[in-house]
Amino acid sequence: MQTEEKLEDPLKQDPETAEPLYTSATTEEPPKKKRKKCICLKISSCILLIIILLLIATFMFFALYLFKKRAVKVTASSATVENLSFTIIPVTLDLVMGTDVAIKNPNYAGYEYENTNTTFYYHGIVAGISPLPAGVVKARSNKKIHLSIYMNATTMIGSPFLAGELIAGQLPLTTNTSLTGKVVLFSTIRFHATVVNSCDVIVNLQTQKTSSNCKSDVKLF
Ligand SMILES: *[C@@H]1O[C@H](CO)[C@@H](O)[C@H](O)[C@H]1NC(C)=O
Ligand SMILES: *[C@@H]1O[C@H](CO)[C@@H](O)[C@H](O)[C@H]1NC(C)=O
Ligand SMILES: *[C@@H]1O[C@H](CO)[C@@H](O)[C@H](O)[C@H]1NC(C)=O
Ligand SMILES: *[C@@H]1O[C@H](CO)[C@@H](O)[C@H](O)[C@H]1NC(C)=O
Repeated sequence: MQTEEKLEDPLKQDPETAEPLYTSATTEEPPKKKRKKCICLKISSCILLIIILLLIATFMFFALYLFKKRAVKVTASSATVENLSFTIIPVTLDLVMGTDVAIKNPNYAGYEYENTNTTFYYHGIVAGISPLPAGVVKARSNKKIHLSIYMNATTMIGSPFLAGELIAGQLPLTTNTSLTGKVVLFSTIRFHATVVNSCDVIVNLQTQKTSSNCKSDVKLF
């Protein structure tokens, strides 16, 4: 406002001295335009920043929401019998289970997990443990890890269910894998997420084939 007054006053006072003032005026005009441009730029960049932040927030919300809805699935569904020998009288058992632990990540966010164990239970008793090394499952990808689990015969023979189930020809097992890890967004933002998976596996002793039923649960933060 002050600069405008200064410019107008000399013009009114003397029309003859207008020429040198004009030149000075023309040299003063560009800074005004620059200032307006500056304000415009600041406002538009502010709006752009807000839009970008809103987009990021929306994306993060949906990525996390979907992460919970479409959970990372850890399945030991392809459980196989790698080695099996048993006798009923006396009760002996030698069982090596093989399993392709599949980690499926259907999300738009990656998942980093720590070292864990896949544990096999026989009627609630720990009968086999196999370590699962730490790793990363990228966004929208699958990962398969082969594990061989030597079932503890001592533990299983100690169970009152074994003899009967060997005769029946079916061994029911439960697997449990609890992954502790982080959801990774844009390779930088990390959220704590735990995936707990358990499968009910039935081993058919005659065919040495298995059938399983798995479920996963995700806990964020
Ligand atoms: C499979 O069982 C047989 C007989 O008990 C044994 O000789 C063999 O070493 C076992 N193989 C594996 C890989 O455990
Ligand atoms: C896996 O199981 C072994 C043997 O029970 C144990 O020593 C180890 O701490 C477990 N690892 C994890 C990550 O829980
Ligand atoms: C099997 O289980 C028994 C007790 O139930 C334990 O003493 C033994 O160390 C276990 N064996 C293996 C190889 O883990
Ligand atoms: C599997 O692990 C989870 C978490 O550690 C636990 O809450 C659940 O009871 C376990 N299931 C079995 C059958 O041990």
